[in-house]
Amino acid sequence: MTSHRDARSNDRVVIFDTTLRDGEQSPGASMTRDEKLRIAKNLERLQVDVIEAGFAMASPGDFDSVHAIASTIKNSTVCSLSRALDSDIDRAAEALKPAESGRIHTFIATSPIHMKYKLQMEPEQVIEQAVHAVKRARNQCADVEFSCEDAGRSELDFLCRIIEKAIDAGAGTINIPDTVGYALPHEFGETIHQLLTRIPNADKAIFSVHCHNDLGLAVANSLAAVVNGARQVECTVNGLGERAGNASLEEFVMGLRTRKDSLQLDTRIASEHIVPTSRLVSSITGFPVQPNKAIVGANAFAHESGIHQDGVLKHRETYEIMNAEDVGWNTNKMVLGKLSGRNAFKTRMEELGISFETPEHLNDTFKRFKKLADKKRDIYDADLQALVTEARNIEEVFKLEAMTIHSQMGGTPEAHITLLVNGESNDIISTGDGAVDAAFKAIEGIACSGAQLELYSVNAITSGTDSQGKVTVRLARKGRIVNGNGSDTDVIVASAKAYVHALNLLESGKKRNPQTGPI
Ligand code: KIV
Ligand code: ZN
Repeated sequence: MTSHRDARSNDRVVIFDTTLRDGEQSPGASMTRDEKLRIAKNLERLQVDVIEAGFAMASPGDFDSVHAIASTIKNSTVCSLSRALDSDIDRAAEALKPAESGRIHTFIATSPIHMKYKLQMEPEQVIEQAVHAVKRARNQCADVEFSCEDAGRSELDFLCRIIEKAIDAGAGTINIPDTVGYALPHEFGETIHQLLTRIPNADKAIFSVHCHNDLGLAVANSLAAVVNGARQVECTVNGLGERAGNASLEEFVMGLRTRKDSLQLDTRIASEHIVPTSRLVSSITGFPVQPNKAIVGANAFAHESGIHQDGVLKHRETYEIMNAEDVGWNTNKMVLGKLSGRNAFKTRMEELGISFETPEHLNDTFKRFKKLADKKRDIYDADLQALVTEARNIEEVFKLEAMTIHSQMGGTPEAHITLLVNGESNDIISTGDGAVDAAFKAIEGIACSGAQLELYSVNAITSGTDSQGKVTVRLARKGRIVNGNGSDTDVIVASAKAYVHALNLLESGKKRNPQTGPI
């Protein structure tokens, strides 16, 4: 592992990925420990420098996830968020104990509006608490990051004062978040420049930025910051995150790499793993990637116009500024089929960063792979990823046992569903406005969940008419939002599976510590 301290003196920008922490703060994006672990392994393969694995104090589940990731990941630093409170810091340190390289990330708000209304503290008290927190964290962990929450709306003089003291107290990384996504690139770049010039001990720390995307400027602001001397960027895969999300890892990394001629900066990211990681995050969280999303959207390298197609065929660079293969496109080769054995299956899964904790888990997934291979001749990497995403490690209160759909043009669709509820079989027939509607009504007729359907989306996992449809169903109940996923070569079956998955997630009831509140 390269030391993050080296970064400032050279042209390398440290990539701090917060998909598992800020990304998880997107409504409905909560992930289980095993899912987080799987993403963390992919982030390590991507060569992310720092993985923010969670917020250990938020819940026992978050603590477990940070602890599991700290015990597993060897080639990236593992970090836990903590408020500037003794209890949070101690909990983060405890969760990070097994880490080969761990970091405590502590934060407190520094903008006038946050200090007055949220913290109800005087600026001097905020400085005192920040210094105390950094010292306490340093006593337990050599690598400490301090964030000035809402720095984008904080006063420059105050930022200079608190940051100087935080560095003196032992913070090795100083993070400047644009928490509400308010900054403009030229202003934000100037803020970084001012901080680096005015703070006397600025050379003792790496300056980092953490930009939210409320005005669609998170990546632009991050680029402006590194041009002005920041050497760490906090970002998420697919730009996942609170509200409009965080700076997108893939866009920032490829912006830097593609325009190295002008920026003269780079990261250590192994870019060929970008698309597979994006797919994994999308399938686990149930957040589809929009087709025209830069780098990882299905159309990012597609050319529709005849003039463009002609140009690309004659000379790729006429219309393409990046190579699709460099970010992991076109690596989606046919990998397995009906005759593939257990070993080939296991090996390919491991290459995709998917490991099996128990022989039963391997057997069960292999059985489902065989079933799929019976229906679908060519099995692609994306199909394999969908297989494991479906089999989430949650208790199955509801289980789809059988379904028959009758649907004809001009007629009323009818769904006959058999659903196991805690092992007990229930049958129902329902009609609906369409086949999917009939299936959902039938399931609800048995489950009586009282949940609201908030989102229904269908995507093809690979191309071709025998491609599996991947369905996301978002349900909300009493303020809790979950995203269920289902995939199948039959879209109606995929939809029913996704609905049942969402119901099971609602039942699994992941609770956060109410004390931590919203971050
Ligand atoms: O957006 C923000 O300010 C944060 C901090 C906790 C770093 O996520
Ligand atoms: Zn944030």
